[in-house]
Amino acid sequence: MSIEIHKVEKSRIDEVDFDNLVFGHTFSDHMFQMEYRNNKWNPPAIIPFGKIEVYPSLSSLHYGQSIFEGLKAFRSADGSVNIFRLDKHIARMENSCKRMCIPTLDSEMFKEAVTTLVGLDRQWIPQARGSSLYIRPFIFASENYIGVRVSEKYDFYILTGPVSTYFKEGLSPVKLMTSEGYVRAVRGGLGEAKTAANYAASLLPAMEAQRRGFSQVLWLDALEGKYIDEVGTMNIAFFKDDVLITPPLEGTILPGVTRDSVIQIAKKKGIKVEERRISIDEVMESVKDGSMTEIFGTGTAAVISPVGEVYHNGESVTVNNFKTGPIAKMFYDEITGIQYGEKEDTFGWIT
Ligand code: COI
Repeated sequence: MSIEIHKVEKSRIDEVDFDNLVFGHTFSDHMFQMEYRNNKWNPPAIIPFGKIEVYPSLSSLHYGQSIFEGLKAFRSADGSVNIFRLDKHIARMENSCKRMCIPTLDSEMFKEAVTTLVGLDRQWIPQARGSSLYIRPFIFASENYIGVRVSEKYDFYILTGPVSTYFKEGLSPVKLMTSEGYVRAVRGGLGEAKTAANYAASLLPAMEAQRRGFSQVLWLDALEGKYIDEVGTMNIAFFKDDVLITPPLEGTILPGVTRDSVIQIAKKKGIKVEERRISIDEVMESVKDGSMTEIFGTGTAAVISPVGEVYHNGESVTVNNFKTGPIAKMFYDEITGIQYGEKEDTFGWIT
């Protein structure tokens, strides 16, 4: 596949304060663009990052037929560029396409799009440990039609931008509260697709939680409000009696790439892993009786996010004295070690 490349006349990189990056605010010089018209994906191009022109009747603005991915490229000490788990993200995007009736992409083309774009803007990959180049592929329905049906036109873009840590807390523990009165996803719904609606639905509960002094919402299942699904925009894991427990992928949970990486690392290290339902009552009790020593979120943006406090039904428990535990730290070090090329990539995760 050949990608037509139109380079910027002058790079904007000198305007960027790489010491004070805020997640999601800064975008590199170029973006990838490809259109789906007349039942096929047309030849792609890489063009300067900039405005796109749309009509107010653009169907995805009205009904949310859109999907995205989020992955990262890292600069290793020897100067090479490591893209983390590109294949896994491409595969997940394909599943999101299918759930949202969006035509799938050729995975080789997708791979070439990402590597070419990242290669072109490689000077935008930050140097500092903890920083990376965030890669945001997304597809939206682009027909100008406001009847409710599957669109006949789509636009696929890939943006990149330098980022630092996602939460201001970094690898410091966060406080969670359960999703009182709200749900994120129900089985048969959109929970396992990376689609805009899931994130829109999370905004009000997250805002209310933050108003009450919590960083994130701990999502309970939509049917019984009993079992744990996810945390904020991340998956969640528990360490209890030396076993790593994480809720199973039964349709309501996004199949996280970091979740999968944590499971694979745990197995390799001989840690027993249980993908099973875990109730909020079990969590509250096990933290209190001391058998659950750690809880942490897993996600591409934050990598590992330790949980220091859980609030549910008027009661709070403190986890591991509100400190980052050794298991969370170990996963963080293993994953970031591979990402920055400091540890051997025995899993074959780096492109
Ligand atoms: C991730 O951590 O992978 C996310 O999905 C966060 C992103 C929506 C900013």
